[in-house]
Amino acid sequence: MPHADSSYFGAANGNKAEVYKQVLEQAQGLVTGQRNWVSNFSNVASLLWHAYAALPAPSSSVNWAGFYIRQDQYPSPSGTSTTDPSVKKNLWLGPFQGRPACQEIRFGRGVCGAAAEKRETVVVPDVLEFPGHIACDASSRSEIVVPILSNGETVAIIDIDCAEPSGFDDEDKKYLEELAILLAESCDWA
Ligand code: SME
Repeated sequence: MPHADSSYFGAANGNKAEVYKQVLEQAQGLVTGQRNWVSNFSNVASLLWHAYAALPAPSSSVNWAGFYIRQDQYPSPSGTSTTDPSVKKNLWLGPFQGRPACQEIRFGRGVCGAAAEKRETVVVPDVLEFPGHIACDASSRSEIVVPILSNGETVAIIDIDCAEPSGFDDEDKKYLEELAILLAESCDWA
């Protein structure tokens, strides 16, 4: 049974790679025997929140960590193909830590929608320079969004905001992409 003590990262001594390795290890433990994305994403949002808090700046300035989940909207029961242009591909707010956020983001909109549509990680060193950035929390200055892919399709995204510019680097990208693969494989998406 998971325990709150599993989310302490002090032993990593503020080393980012080490903290991410512990996040991955603890996430693996928490998702074992659990394939429900609500449960898994909720626990992983908590892990990420505590992990960033245990790191030096700029990571300690992370002010939002969580998920958006894909759920398409079909115009009619017959419109079931994802290539149908009348199908609205949407992301909906999922489990997170931080301030309340916008609940619905269209594919292609904002940083989240861009990553979902491209099926690629988007790192934004300065959100003020990103056209169409959606400002849920005015204190956010940089952002990383990593798509979670199942069968080559975006099923969800990991979104992390930082209150400092240039809050994320290649190391964040590498480990969050590993986390996205772990979550893609450990949850049921059908
Ligand atoms: N900034 C995001 C919106 C989500 S919040 O940051 C939680 C975007 O531009 O898509």
